[in-house]
Amino acid sequence: MSSLDFAIRRMVDEDLAAVAEIEAGVFTDWYRKYRKPQNPLPERTVEELRYSTSFDPEANLVAIAADGAMVGFVLARTWGEVGWFGTFGVPTQFQGMSIGRSLIEVVTEQLKRSCRIVGLETMPESGSNIGLYTKTGFAVTFPTLILDLSLIKQADRLSGMDRDDVILWGRGDEATKLSMLHGIRTIADALVPGLDYTREIKAICEYHLGETVVAMDGGSVAGFAAVRTVPYRGSDTTGRGYIHILAIHPDADSEAVLLNLLRQIWNRCASIGLTRLVTGLGGRYQSALGLLMRNGFMGVRAAVRMADRSSAPEAFELSTAVNLARWAG
Ligand SMILES: CC(C)(COP(=O)(O)OP(=O)(O)OC[C@H]1O[C@@H](n2cnc3c(N)ncnc32)[C@H](O)[C@@H]1OP(=O)(O)O)[C@@H](O)C(=O)NCCC(=O)NCCS
Repeated sequence: MSSLDFAIRRMVDEDLAAVAEIEAGVFTDWYRKYRKPQNPLPERTVEELRYSTSFDPEANLVAIAADGAMVGFVLARTWGEVGWFGTFGVPTQFQGMSIGRSLIEVVTEQLKRSCRIVGLETMPESGSNIGLYTKTGFAVTFPTLILDLSLIKQADRLSGMDRDDVILWGRGDEATKLSMLHGIRTIADALVPGLDYTREIKAICEYHLGETVVAMDGGSVAGFAAVRTVPYRGSDTTGRGYIHILAIHPDADSEAVLLNLLRQIWNRCASIGLTRLVTGLGGRYQSALGLLMRNGFMGVRAAVRMADRSSAPEAFELSTAVNLARWAG
C-alpha cells in the first residue's frame, strides 16, 4: 500500500463543490462494482450539502493532501445526543491509504463530545466497509429496512383530505411553531433520551427542501413527519420523495396517527407530482413493520446499521415505538 501526506480539517462552504464531485465519483465507482447502473451518478446540489452540513459544522470534515487536493470527506449530523456520520468517501485512486480510517477516527471523536449514541449506516454488499468500521470501534446493530410507499397505488386510501386539515409546522405563527417543537422534542426524547429532531425540522424548512406535517391530539403533538420533497441530486427525475423522519408518541394511537400523517403527506406530495416515497425503519423499531405494511409500505432493501461500541445501550436494544429515520444522508 502506498502512503500519502494528508491533513484533516473542518469542511467549509468553499469545499462543497469539490465534495459533491468526489461523492458522485466514488459512488459511481461503487455502484458500478456492486449494483451496475448505466450512467454516472449526478452530483448532489451544493444547497443540499449546505443543509446536510448545517447540523454540526465541527464534525463535517475533509482530508487535504500536501498539494492541496481534496482526498476525502465525511458528512456528519447530530440529532441532540444521537450523532451519525455519512455519507463518506475517498476518491478511488486514494483508497487503501488510511485516509478513510483517519476521517472515521476524527469524526467519531468529535461526535462523542456531545452524543450518547454515535452510529452510521452502510451498504450490506460492502464487506470491506463493515470490516473497516468494526476495526474502528463500531458494532453491528439491527439492520435498517428501506421501505417504499407508492402514492399512486395508495391513492384510494390516502387521498381526499381537505387541504385545510393539513398541519404544516412551517406555516404556523412563532408561538405555534415553538409549542409544536416542544411536542416534537417530547416524542423524540421518549424514544431515546436526548434524541432531538428539532434542528432537522427547522433546517428542512429553512433550506426549502421539504416540510413537516404534524398530527395533533387535542393540544398535544401525537406524531410528525419531516418529508423531503426536493431530490438530493440535481437531475433526479424519479418522482421520489423521502419520509426523512416520522415519529409517533409512544402513548398515542399509532394506527390512527400514522394514517393521519400519511394522508397529510399524500396531500402535499401528490399535488407536486411525486409518485412514491422512500424511508427507512431502524431495526430497533421493527415491531412497527406490520403497521407500516398494512399502510402500503413495501420492503425494498436493507442497510447495515452500526453503533460505536461505547454508545448508550438503547442503540443495541429493541423498542416498540414508531420511529422512521435513517442514519445516512
Ligand atoms: C469506505 C472508504 C471511505 C474507506 O476509505 P479508505 O481510505 O480506502 O480506507 P482506509 O485505507 O483508511 O482503510 C481501509 C481499511 O479497511 C480494511 N479493510 C478493507 N477490506 C476489509 C475487509 N474485507 N475486512 C476487514 N477490513 C478490511 C483495510 O485493511 C484497512 O484497514 P487498516 O487501516 O487496518 O489496514 C472508501 O473505500 C470509499 O470511499 N468507498 C466508496 C464509498 C463508500 O463505500 N463510502 C462509505 C459508505 S458507508
